[in-house]
Amino acid sequence: MKDRIFYITTPIYYVNAQPHIGHAYTTIVADFLARWHRLAGYDTFFLTGTDEHGEKIAQAAQKNGEEPQAFVDRVSARFREAWEKLCIEYDDFIRTTDERHKKVVQYVLQKVYDAGDIYYGEYEGLYCVGCERFLTEKELVDGRCPDHGTVPERRREGNYFFRMEKYREWLRDYIQANPDFIRPEGYRNEVLSMLSEPVGDLSISRPRQRVPWGIPLPWDEDHVTYVWFDALLNYVSALGYPDGEKYHRFWTHAWHLVGKDILKPHAVFWPTMLKSAGIPLYRHLNVGGFLLGPDGRKMSKSLGNVVDPFALAEKYGPDVVRYYLLRELPYGQDGAVGEPGLVERYNADLANDLGNLLSRTVTMIEKFYSGYIPAPGLSEGPDHELIALAEGLPDRLENLINGLEITEALKEIWKFIGRANKYIDETAPWTLAKDPAKKERLATVIYNLAEALRIISVHISPVMPNTSGEIRRQLGIADEGLFTWESVRKWGRLPAGLKIGGKRIIFPRIENKSASGKEAKAVEQKDTAVNRDESREGLITIDDFAKIDLRVAVVLEAERIEGADKLLKLKVKIGEEERQIVAGIAKHYTPEELVGKKIVVVANLKPAKLRGVESQGMLLAASTKDKLTLVTVENDIEPGAKVK
Ligand code: MSP
Repeated sequence: MKDRIFYITTPIYYVNAQPHIGHAYTTIVADFLARWHRLAGYDTFFLTGTDEHGEKIAQAAQKNGEEPQAFVDRVSARFREAWEKLCIEYDDFIRTTDERHKKVVQYVLQKVYDAGDIYYGEYEGLYCVGCERFLTEKELVDGRCPDHGTVPERRREGNYFFRMEKYREWLRDYIQANPDFIRPEGYRNEVLSMLSEPVGDLSISRPRQRVPWGIPLPWDEDHVTYVWFDALLNYVSALGYPDGEKYHRFWTHAWHLVGKDILKPHAVFWPTMLKSAGIPLYRHLNVGGFLLGPDGRKMSKSLGNVVDPFALAEKYGPDVVRYYLLRELPYGQDGAVGEPGLVERYNADLANDLGNLLSRTVTMIEKFYSGYIPAPGLSEGPDHELIALAEGLPDRLENLINGLEITEALKEIWKFIGRANKYIDETAPWTLAKDPAKKERLATVIYNLAEALRIISVHISPVMPNTSGEIRRQLGIADEGLFTWESVRKWGRLPAGLKIGGKRIIFPRIENKSASGKEAKAVEQKDTAVNRDESREGLITIDDFAKIDLRVAVVLEAERIEGADKLLKLKVKIGEEERQIVAGIAKHYTPEELVGKKIVVVANLKPAKLRGVESQGMLLAASTKDKLTLVTVENDIEPGAKVK
């Protein structure tokens, strides 16, 4: 049987910058994959962390007037706080300044040195501090680093070198024989083309005098380890290499997630280092694209197109940000992201599709079954299609996720959500409820909807863990056994008779200009995006309020309605228009005293009949148990004036 073991890593992030959306995206992908694999029964380990040595970090600390250790402690903590805000559940957080890590770096260096793969030499080349590596002439664009836009420095110094070139042929053969080692394919080809010419040896040390902030070489204290040689080893040091139980269990199942800017260190430096140290290779290198600003340009502070994922999470909730980023960008491709796009997706997929399915279903369970999930009868017609779609979902998702097609996997789940909404339209439960002969059919339909939602709550849990829990709360599901991978392979595990929890709108629609992609108005959206904030439940937006057309009206005539002792029939004038309004105020006002009063009415209410008399609007009145008083206007104003 195939081992169900999964080890996922993110790059460890440099602490010279604060956590930003590029970090957040990669970490959300990793968290999604970790949660999905755990759910699907894989023994899973998820590692992230911070990269804290090297020139770049030492310079940043100095600029900040801090000692390097104090500086890295502070910024590394910021990363951990940031991940909490996005509901990232890692198993371990490695720091390259951890003692456990330093020990492993020195151990591996010694091993590679003893194998004869490290030598001392003079090196002269073009060094980019941003990349923390020497660049080849070929990599430069107009003499500058393509990633940092800076002119690299010419440096000449005594360094230790790792015999990387020695392993080039071997690596090329390995990548050719293992087509899914580096993916997507475009990046694999890029690496093969790098390996078609000499890659040279890798400088793996820096003179301690110039760069004191690093791990000393075990055989020469005057040199510290080059930051990439140090950083890459985090993936095994965190597992307790060489003897750790976790190392033996997880290492060969490793999936690395990296951005395309760090392809070469992971695809060339790392496998050759592993080979020389006698460590087996990782399983997959998964290369992600770059997030661009909403304008499609590379995000940068100076362009003012930086999207802050933490502010978005604060405003819309972490689940929404996670869903948006994973759904929006096929992994491996570059793509533009921004708040207007998020709002559009929110309204379409979350408020409309998922939110409506839940609220329609829970409302019907409350209405037709006093809040208890009914027992189903025999399946018929569209039930079969719904059930087959649900039962096929786990395998389809497993295939897609193994191929890192997360966007497609989410689309599959939403296909099922769409099918369940269509099922409501096809089976028309509100009509069934009116026909006593259709009692059993109604119970089956409602049960099926609740079961569909249970299954959806399981499948969305890796992307929206909070929403998943909220759906189960609303359905009254507490049993963990109803939340397993096995439980979604077979339809009908939801027991009948469960008492559902209180209804709550999970994704209130966001009605404002940002949905059209033009403008993102922070404050208004904050109030509508309440899925994280229960205390705001029930609030409406100014746009909701604007739907009610309130007008001043003058009462022209009033009379009692025969046989209805509470009702009065009024004729009112709103602007030039005359209307008839029936109001339940006969116990508090005589017809005579009403004539001439200026009152407030809802002018755009659908007409309705009360005791057979048509009412074309509604007047406003304040009331307590035994008092009632009409809402009037304080000073004189024309009938028809808008009240807002
Ligand atoms: N410290 C190294 C990694 C060492 S791993 C052994 C490093 N750190 S980093 O903080 O600069 O970048 C980490 C990751 O963030 C990289 O994979 C990089 O591609 C990614 N991103 C940075 N900006 C990005 C976007 N705008 N979009 C997507 N990811 C990008 O490199």
